[in-house]
Amino acid sequence: MTTLLQINASIHNGKGQSSQLANQFVAAYQESHPAARIVVRDVAAAEPVPHLNGERFGAFIAKPGDRSAEQQAIVAYSDSLIEELKSASIIVIGLPMYNFGVPSQLKAYFDHIARAGVTFAYTEQGPKGLITGKKVFVFATRGGVYAGTPLDTQTSYVRDFLRFLGMTDVEFVYAEGLHLGPQTKEAGLARAGLEITRLAA
Ligand SMILES: Cc1cc2nc3c(=O)[nH]c(=O)nc-3n(C[C@H](O)[C@H](O)[C@H](O)COP(=O)(O)O)c2cc1C
Repeated sequence: MTTLLQINASIHNGKGQSSQLANQFVAAYQESHPAARIVVRDVAAAEPVPHLNGERFGAFIAKPGDRSAEQQAIVAYSDSLIEELKSASIIVIGLPMYNFGVPSQLKAYFDHIARAGVTFAYTEQGPKGLITGKKVFVFATRGGVYAGTPLDTQTSYVRDFLRFLGMTDVEFVYAEGLHLGPQTKEAGLARAGLEITRLAA
């Protein structure tokens, strides 16, 4: 059975524009794949991922036998996020742009799934991603228009990060100009909708 993991990164608790596009994709996907299992992870609103700090990183790198109960809980949380990711073959990310970057909670999520020896390994040939065989769809929503310009720092960052962990098959769908006026918004969402229909078939 295919498992699809939907990662919502909007602060608007499932109602953000990016979450709605992700929902639209998941609904269309479910229609053509009724047996698919859907798992939703809301990293920014419902269950915000805490930011990485010295204490949390210290827990990651401590030897398993030396970890305090507190450190074990921190690692168990990170392990559960990683297991959830590993168990899915399709990853859907709702990605808003906030102040020219990705939501800080999505960065915090990435910080909790990037674990040396667990999700990537350092080898003589360089780093090697250990999370392979996934298909990733990213639904990026923006108030302005940035795709294909140097101001779009999100696309290269998200692609590079996912590639680092071994996820190389990544498709972006953009809905842009959402704050530039009703017509621009409508056109941006309509374009994204067409892409969603094509991709979910
Ligand atoms: C705190 C905040 C910061 C934003 N910063 C930007 C920005 O830098 N560039 C942009 O084009 N839009 C920006 N926007 C607009 C959002 O990208 C846009 O509303 C998007 O649809 C938000 O996705 P969401 O509804 O899923 O949260 C910002 C919105 C918020 C709430």
